Amino acid sequence: MKRRLCLITGASAGIGAEFARQYAALGWNLVLTARREDRLQALADEVRARNKTELTVIAEDLADPAAPARLVAALASKGLEVDALVNNAGYGLPGTFFSTSWEDQAAFLQVLYTAPVELTHRLLAGMATRKFGRIINVASLAGYAAGSAGHTLYASVKAGMIKFSESINAECEALGYTDIHCTALCPGFTYSEFHDVNGTREATKQMPAWLWMESAPVVAAGIEAVNRGQPVVVPGPVNKTMATLTRILPEPLGRAMVRAQSSRYRRMD
Ligand SMILES: NC(=O)c1ccc[n+]([C@@H]2O[C@H](COP(=O)([O-])OP(=O)(O)OC[C@H]3O[C@@H](n4cnc5c(N)ncnc54)[C@H](OP(=O)(O)O)[C@@H]3O)[C@@H](O)[C@H]2O)c1
Repeated sequence: MKRRLCLITGASAGIGAEFARQYAALGWNLVLTARREDRLQALADEVRARNKTELTVIAEDLADPAAPARLVAALASKGLEVDALVNNAGYGLPGTFFSTSWEDQAAFLQVLYTAPVELTHRLLAGMATRKFGRIINVASLAGYAAGSAGHTLYASVKAGMIKFSESINAECEALGYTDIHCTALCPGFTYSEFHDVNGTREATKQMPAWLWMESAPVVAAGIEAVNRGQPVVVPGPVNKTMATLTRILPEPLGRAMVRAQSSRYRRMD
């Protein structure tokens, strides 16, 4: 049987690299993309040494508005048909809305919202033709909680990715594509390079260990959920409890709790 193909954005580190390892172990071929090509090549070598995976590495900066179209064109020129898309690339933008330049905010929206939505749009048509598709949008528990000061757009783009995933999943079902599913994966604190990149490592090191998950169970939860056709998944019992609390607590109390917690690790400089 022809091996299926998964395109993973942000595959050079953390959760994205773990998606590559798990999809390869499941017998899929991979396209890995991120900016750091050397890291992608090293991961490709590691995965090839363990699996019969065919890997393609394409370096792209998703902050470039032309990148999603270029990526999809590069795949088409190689005759590669994408069966699964993992929209994972992302980062946190520290500081307040006041202190951050519009250029940085716009790039953030491009990488974390516009690029995943555009890649989904461009790749869904092929999935519909082949009547099979899996789309995992790596959102966040932050998308459930109230917005708070600092890292201003993070919660709002992640909430947007949750709603977008629910809508795409519902549309595929309504249109009769019974084997095309879209899932928002909503991790809480997960070990990766995320907190080094956004400069909150020192503060987040103070968070208790029980709040943290390894990337392996986070990724496994995402793959299982999308195969079941579940529109949203929150991995791990602690994160699930927190997601439930955001729904059942009175809104002012929920907001006050998020404010108190997030001020411990969100940067306001
Ligand atoms: N770790 C957590 O606690 C946590 C919690 C909830 C949600 N998440 C979400 O999980 C996803 C993965 O993050 P992670 O924790 O694995 O962080 P990470 O280890 O820092 O990995 C982030 C990935 O995104 C890529 N990326 C960043 N900017 C990019 C750009 N402009 N163009 C292309 N690729 C770019 C990075 O690659 P290059 O630098 O090589 O481009 C890297 O591969 C993100 O969407 C994040 O919001 C993380």
